[in-house]
Amino acid sequence: MKYKSILAALAISITIATALADTKADTKIGFIVKQAEESWFQDEWKFAQVAAQEKGFTLVKIAAEDGEKLMSAIDNLGAQGAQGFIVCTPDVKLGPGIVARARANDLKLMSVDDRLVDGKGQALENVPHMGISAHKIGEQVGIALIAEIEKRGWKLDEVGALRVSYDSLPTAVDRVNGVISILTENGLPKINIFDAPQKKTDTEAAMNAATIVLNQHAKIKYWIAFGLNDEAVLGAVRATESVKIDPLNVIGIGIGGSDSAISEFKKAALTGFFGTIIISPKRHGYETSINMYEWIKNNKTPEKLILTSGELATRDNYIEVRKSLGIE
Ligand code: GLA
Repeated sequence: MKYKSILAALAISITIATALADTKADTKIGFIVKQAEESWFQDEWKFAQVAAQEKGFTLVKIAAEDGEKLMSAIDNLGAQGAQGFIVCTPDVKLGPGIVARARANDLKLMSVDDRLVDGKGQALENVPHMGISAHKIGEQVGIALIAEIEKRGWKLDEVGALRVSYDSLPTAVDRVNGVISILTENGLPKINIFDAPQKKTDTEAAMNAATIVLNQHAKIKYWIAFGLNDEAVLGAVRATESVKIDPLNVIGIGIGGSDSAISEFKKAALTGFFGTIIISPKRHGYETSINMYEWIKNNKTPEKLILTSGELATRDNYIEVRKSLGIE
């Protein structure tokens, strides 16, 4: 009898141990991004994978460039038995739909980069979010543009400013408004700022938008360019090249600092892409994933809003800046 109960106890403890091991291996977290081909998102995924290895959960990386793909990705995560996901949505207005879909699939939800909004454009404050300090980083772009304009001795009223815009995305609006506040405070006439609305947030769409503006204002000699990210500014710079503007007459400053920007600095010949504000895909990929894991495993609710900072890098100092940020 005694022997039997020992055996039974052993069997129970083995079952419990196996169950525990299973739950550990079974933690599954989705990381959905709107534009998988962009180096920023590749980096986010890379750092999310580091978190997965460290904590021993399964990371499911999904690209969803439109709402339909996003909704089926959420259902798919639910069907796979995931417990939560982090999303950079292709359209922030899908916010309430994403929340409902996550709830229906019993998935915890966090957003990254682009904050979800409701039908009135108000941020969904209950969804934990990590984004960049958009306005402040825009100001950093503006300060760097003004400094370089002064260094080159250009007169502000002779400078055309290309605002590569994507106004349906609040963080894009905040970023360019940050830039413009500094430019106008320092004396750039408002009428010298030209809107180049991009249809998509990639380099090609930015180039198409900028080319139209450059052709409309062919008499302007000096150009500066800014926008949502490095891709926006790279597109504008490519447009200046295609209409044969001297790279020395162009100052483009992006936001991002991943491969697409850095490879521009590595080119032997100088281009109009002068600088980038390096932001942190490590924080956005690694930290969000760790926070989601802690939420699932230890019921630790993530902070509602985290805004990360950035630092200017140019062709001259990008290696040092990357070293100081621990990414070189
Ligand atoms: C948006 C942009 C990305 C990147 C992130 C940073 O999602 O589209 O290129 O700048 O913000 O948070």
